[in-house]
Amino acid sequence: MDLGIKGKRALVLGASRGLGAGMARALAAEGCNLFLAARTAERLDERARELSREYGVTVENRPLDLGDLDSVEACARAAGGSGGVDILINTTGGPPPSGALGVTPALWLQQFQSMVLGVIRLTDLLVPAMRERRWGRVVTVTSSGVIQPIPVLAVSNTLRASIVTFMKTLSTEVAADGVTVNVMAPGRIWTERTDEIDAANAKRSGASQEQVRRQSMATIPVGRYGTVEEFAAVACFLASAQASYVTGQVMRVDGGMIRSV
Ligand SMILES: NC(=O)c1ccc[n+]([C@@H]2O[C@H](COP(=O)([O-])OP(=O)(O)OC[C@H]3O[C@@H](n4cnc5c(N)ncnc54)[C@H](OP(=O)(O)O)[C@@H]3O)[C@@H](O)[C@H]2O)c1
Repeated sequence: MDLGIKGKRALVLGASRGLGAGMARALAAEGCNLFLAARTAERLDERARELSREYGVTVENRPLDLGDLDSVEACARAAGGSGGVDILINTTGGPPPSGALGVTPALWLQQFQSMVLGVIRLTDLLVPAMRERRWGRVVTVTSSGVIQPIPVLAVSNTLRASIVTFMKTLSTEVAADGVTVNVMAPGRIWTERTDEIDAANAKRSGASQEQVRRQSMATIPVGRYGTVEEFAAVACFLASAQASYVTGQVMRVDGGMIRSV
């Protein structure tokens, strides 16, 4: 299916690896011109070379630290200034594992800045031009933890929930202007971060990483982790022309892992 977004300009955060890199690739395959952002310039350069070579699209990079508002505003100016952004894909890093108690105020603040405030600021700076053009897509990656809190990820559960309610509020404000705003809730998609989390759990429990992974997969009705490509395909649909009547949603991509309806 032609998703109707050839030539659209997409800014993809977290594009240096994992879900962000996968979504950038899928958008490039649809013919979108890209603006890639993350902190690690070398990885972004690598991604940009691959995507422009394989898909013939324009790819620009912008090193971005979401925890630094100056960096966020510079990114918005650079992407918004050169032709505007039609599709904004918000992806952040994830916080360190913890329970609800014992997290220092400094860590709460630091994570709030990079996981919430940076995303809100960037969205705030880029959405007005989408409204003026009467077309825009905002897709924000959160986690299954916003629906079913994950026991060892209290900071993620808490802060990402506020992103969901921000995006839902925004969706109603801009819906009549042709701008859709949706959130994605990945369950367990196989990325470097998933491996890192399994390795940390293995270390804590004394089991092997393979045992931890098997136990984790056994909790998912589909019986395996999702692939980055499966996740990116859903993101691309939300960014598509066809998804014009889908807004304010939390889209689960979890192989059935979240048990509630
Ligand atoms: N994979 C899953 O199954 C899953 C499930 C639930 C939730 N999530 C969440 O979804 C997000 C993406 O998942 P993932 O597996 O792709 O994670 P990942 O491999 O850790 O990728 C995170 C991306 O965010 C960038 N990033 C981190 N901190 C940043 C900052 N301060 N400023 C700008 N960019 C920053 C990273 O690049 P740099 O380090 O170069 O900045 C990287 O590109 C994460 O927040 C993760 O917790 C993932």
